[in-house]
Amino acid sequence: MRVVQWATGGVGKAAIETILLHPELELVGCWVHSAGKGGRDVGELLGREPLGVRTTTSLDEVLAMDADCVLYSPLVPDRDVVAALLRSGKNVVTPVGWFYPSERDGAPLAAACEEGRSTLHGTGINPGGITELHPLVFSALSSAVTFVRGEEFSDIRTYDAPDVVRHLMMFGGRPEEAMGGPMLGLLSGGFVQSVRMCLDALGFSRDAEIRTAQAVAVATAPIDSPIGTIEPGLVAGQRFVWEAVVRDRVVVRVAVNWLMGEEHLDPAWTFGPEGERFEVELQGDPPAHVTIKGWQPASVAEGLARNPGVVATAVHCVNSIPYVVAAEPGIRTYLDLPLVAGRAHPDLA
Ligand SMILES: NC(=O)c1ccc[n+]([C@@H]2O[C@H](COP(=O)([O-])OP(=O)(O)OC[C@H]3O[C@@H](n4cnc5c(N)ncnc54)[C@H](OP(=O)(O)O)[C@@H]3O)[C@@H](O)[C@H]2O)c1
Repeated sequence: MRVVQWATGGVGKAAIETILLHPELELVGCWVHSAGKGGRDVGELLGREPLGVRTTTSLDEVLAMDADCVLYSPLVPDRDVVAALLRSGKNVVTPVGWFYPSERDGAPLAAACEEGRSTLHGTGINPGGITELHPLVFSALSSAVTFVRGEEFSDIRTYDAPDVVRHLMMFGGRPEEAMGGPMLGLLSGGFVQSVRMCLDALGFSRDAEIRTAQAVAVATAPIDSPIGTIEPGLVAGQRFVWEAVVRDRVVVRVAVNWLMGEEHLDPAWTFGPEGERFEVELQGDPPAHVTIKGWQPASVAEGLARNPGVVATAVHCVNSIPYVVAAEPGIRTYLDLPLVAGRAHPDLA
C-alpha cells in the first residue's frame, strides 16, 4: 500500500521509520510544513540514506499522487485539508482527532469520505490508546463494569516541543495564565471523544454527565527545563481530568499528569514509587489494573532525542493503515475496525 506522510515532526519522523519497516507499506510521498524542507529527499531530511522520495509543500501535489493512504500528523489540524485528501480518494489515518466524533462534528468529513469512497481513522496513544481502546479491550474480560480509567503520568521535560509546552500548555507561565489558557479546551476535543466511546461501547446511561477539571503546581525552586529555567511561583506541573458521572458515580475517568520533574513542586505532586507510566484500570467482575512501562524514556535527554510515547503514537497510526485501507468508506473507529496488530521484525519474518 502506497503511503504519504503529512508533516515531519516527532510523530512524522517515527512514522516514516515505521512505514519503511512495514512489509505491506511503501512510502511514496511526504508533505512538509516549512518551505526550507520542500524539494528534499525524505531520507536526507531525516539524516539517513536517500530514499528516492522528494518532499513537497504543496497540497495539490499530494492530491495528485497515486496513494492509498495519508498519515496526517501536523501540529495544527486543518479540516479542509483532511476533507480534500479524503475527497481525492485517499484514506487518512491521524493522531490529531476524529477518534470518535459525534455525528454532527463528523458530518463534513463523513461527506468527504462518501465522495472519495475513502476512510478516516483517528488513533494514537492518549487519546487513541490508553484512554478508550485499552479499557475496552480489558472490559471484554469483566462483567458488570462500574468504572474504567486511562491515565498518563509523564515528565513533560522529555517532550521535544518547546513552543507547545511554553505557549500552548503554558508551562513556565503564571498559574492564572495556564488555568485560563487554551489547553483544557484543546485537549477536551480529543479526550471527551475517549470518554464517550467508553460510555457508548460499555452501555452506560445516555444521561451521563461529563465534567472536566484542571489543576496546576508551581515551582518552589528554579527548575531546568527545555523551555528554559522555570522560576519559583511559575507553572511546573499540570493535571487535567475528564470524568463521566452516572447517578453520582464516576464511571469513566481519563487523566493526564504532566510534571517538570518531581522535586520542586507545590503542591508536592510526584509519580509515586511506580514512577512515570500509563495506567488502565477497570472495576467489574473481575477487576483489572494494568501499568504500562516502556512508553516513557529512561532520561530527559533520551526523550528529547526520540520519545517512545511519540513513537508509539506513530506506530499505532502506521499499523492501522492496512485495516483502514480495507475498511468501508466513512469515519471508522476501533468500534468498526478489526484487531489492529503490529508486524514482526524483518529479520524474523
Ligand atoms: N493522539 C495522540 O496520542 C498524540 C500523541 C502525540 C502527538 N499527537 C498529535 O500529533 C501531532 C504531531 O505531533 P508531533 O509530536 O509530531 O509534533 P511536532 O514534533 O511539534 O511536529 C509538528 C509538525 O507540524 C508541522 N507544523 C508546524 N506548524 C504547522 C502549521 N501551522 N500547519 C501545519 N503543520 C505545521 C511542523 O513542521 P516543521 O517541522 O516544518 O516545523 C512539524 O512537522 C500534534 O497535533 C499532536 O497533538 C497526538
